[in-house]
Amino acid sequence: MAKYVGILTAGGDSPGLNAAIRGVVKASVGQYGMQIIGFRDGFRGLMQNRTIRLESHTVSGILTRGGTILGTSRDKPHQMPVGGEKMDMTDVMVDTYEQHNLDALVCLGGGGTQKNAYHLAQKGLNVVTLPKTIDNDVYGTDMTFGFDTALGIATDAIDRLHSTAHSHHRIIVVEIMGHNAGWLALGAGIAGGADVILIPEIPYSMDVVAEKIRRRQRRGSNFSIVAVSEGAHSSEDAKALAKARAKIDKAEKKPDRKKAKAELKELSASFKNHTLIVTEQLEAMTGLEARVTILGHLQRGGTPSAADRLLATRLGTRCAHFIQDEKYGVMVADRGERAVAVPLADIVGKRKTVPLDHSWIATARDIGVCLGDE
Ligand code: F6P
Repeated sequence: MAKYVGILTAGGDSPGLNAAIRGVVKASVGQYGMQIIGFRDGFRGLMQNRTIRLESHTVSGILTRGGTILGTSRDKPHQMPVGGEKMDMTDVMVDTYEQHNLDALVCLGGGGTQKNAYHLAQKGLNVVTLPKTIDNDVYGTDMTFGFDTALGIATDAIDRLHSTAHSHHRIIVVEIMGHNAGWLALGAGIAGGADVILIPEIPYSMDVVAEKIRRRQRRGSNFSIVAVSEGAHSSEDAKALAKARAKIDKAEKKPDRKKAKAELKELSASFKNHTLIVTEQLEAMTGLEARVTILGHLQRGGTPSAADRLLATRLGTRCAHFIQDEKYGVMVADRGERAVAVPLADIVGKRKTVPLDHSWIATARDIGVCLGDE
């Protein structure tokens, strides 16, 4: 009997989502005659039972489109904002799944979505997930779709900033997305020829960064490009964060834990303008004029790159085969030339940050890029 499958996209949008939806739909309808419905706006649409019928013709022409035709949201099943309160709406979602007689639910998303999908799997739903995010920080997969496109956009931005920084003899500090992982800033920084790259995995010293820029000045280069991850921190701030996190781990009683969490939230919020602060400090420390460019959501918009279309289509089509084989509770992961099923239980709560011995870090150091630590 042909299977009934639901599909949703959750978390921040990312180029390649439509290519993945198209891959899932075309392969599951074309190869196995499955019936597919899409839920709008992530887990919220699953809760509210807002659907769209997806057939091969519905997904034709979406391969090259950015965003997601289904819409997305950052809502979590167990903490859904309802009437000004956060409520656990998991059971309502289970009801929707049963109402449609679904055999499987496909969830496309980043680390948070893997966790939310696992939560639904534990409630008995047959879940398969696909890894997307421009941050490339989903554990268990070589690559997430969206990353390659964002890498291209950020690299292009650095290229453009180079000529204006050079002409005006300025420092340009460019903020690149990535709160917890520095893949994007590191990749685009190397590809775009940044002089300094600051990532969350390597706490930086302003003295080291300023000295790198002054050294360039002494050699006659009166401009510099500094690529900064959203989540990069100075050594002092990194220490304060580590202390705040340790306080949460140590808290035994619920109210203490809540208080420690609130303190961490407040501390993190105080770092909101850190790229601007870095820019001002560098201007003061080097005597060079400095400007800041925050790339923001530009990095998530627009047409997916060829590599992202290919990856999303590969993972999406493989997902259809896993559903047919009833391989559930898994993420379709990219591993070399293959797409493999990784149990969600093995990846939830983990994040793929840049390992300190990664070749990109060694490469950056080899070409004299300052990573803020030495
Ligand atoms: O998770 C992807 C991401 O683009 C991060 O790089 C960024 O920090 C965050 O989403 C921005 O989230 P929002 O779209 O909610 O502003």
